[in-house]
Amino acid sequence: MSKPFLRPVPTPSRGAPAGQPAAPGQYPRVRMRRNRAEGWVRALVAENRIGAEDLVWPVFVHGGAKAREAIPSMPGVERLSLGALVDEVGRARELGVPAVAVFPVVPPPLKSETAEEACNPDNLANRAIRAIKSAVPEIGIICDVALDPYTSHGHDGLMRDNRILNDETIEVLCRQALAQAEAGVDIVAPSDMMDGRVGVLRQALDGAGREDVRILSYAAKYASAFYGPFRDAVGSKASLGKGDKRTYQMDPANTDEALRECALDVAEGADMIMVKPGLPYLDVLWRVKQEFAMPTLVYQVSGEYAMLRAAAERGWLDGDKTLMESLIAFKRAGADAILTYAAVEVARRLKAG
Ligand code: PBG
Repeated sequence: MSKPFLRPVPTPSRGAPAGQPAAPGQYPRVRMRRNRAEGWVRALVAENRIGAEDLVWPVFVHGGAKAREAIPSMPGVERLSLGALVDEVGRARELGVPAVAVFPVVPPPLKSETAEEACNPDNLANRAIRAIKSAVPEIGIICDVALDPYTSHGHDGLMRDNRILNDETIEVLCRQALAQAEAGVDIVAPSDMMDGRVGVLRQALDGAGREDVRILSYAAKYASAFYGPFRDAVGSKASLGKGDKRTYQMDPANTDEALRECALDVAEGADMIMVKPGLPYLDVLWRVKQEFAMPTLVYQVSGEYAMLRAAAERGWLDGDKTLMESLIAFKRAGADAILTYAAVEVARRLKAG
């Protein structure tokens, strides 16, 4: 049965050309273009919007003295020193960005097979968390829980005989998360894809009296080639070499599996869940939001950002417009918030109007 709004309306004088059946539909009584005619009416009927409050800004911090280092595969994104990081995060807060995600660039001598540095209370990530907390206390701080910045082999977990060890890795992740909590992190974000880590992390945090620390689970995280520029930025590409993460990150072919991953993380106590990457996985985002009605974040990853920037630099695409169009696509698909390297730039543009 057709829906009421699709029921044909008697067409007045303008009938079908002789010899053809009357046109279906409601034209000319219904003209969709009326609601697109001026800016004010388009604004009035817009179903989705992007605000600075929808954005999370991922930032790269390095331990050196140089305030800013360019990242060639991510034009406009820089690795920041601790001092510059605090300044920039203050600016982000002023522009209304509610949270940042901190990613440390760990020098090779501090990396090891067993990633001890991940649990060092004074490691770069924890120093960055403390510095932001004391200088910009009103901004939320998110930090990855995963070993890849700290392992000499570039994997997110511990490795033995070329295999990633699940349960042994989770023990280290717990110590890493507790050190971050101690430093003042607001949200720990396990991005490692080990089985069972959300539940064990929750237990470890609660056991340490840190029921206040939230868990944002990278629940549906795919083994994606779109992470390339990120691995340049944090220097894990060389460590990983020809290796890949397909024994723990998801196969891009699957969506039912994403729902199972999310169901487990929700049951284990995740406060928020994430789909990653973003634009190539909008169908996953849509299904996840529909199915769980959880606070759902999406990560516009480094490769997505790099593609838009590269095309814009060549004059092939309008960089600003394609970026905004990508962000609204995430909202349409059900994202509550979006991690994007362009968060500050977008917040600035939105403020300027
Ligand atoms: C680490 C991590 C990665 C990203 C976020 N956390 C890379 C990876 O899993 O290899 C990718 C982010 C991006 O590409 O922007 N576990």
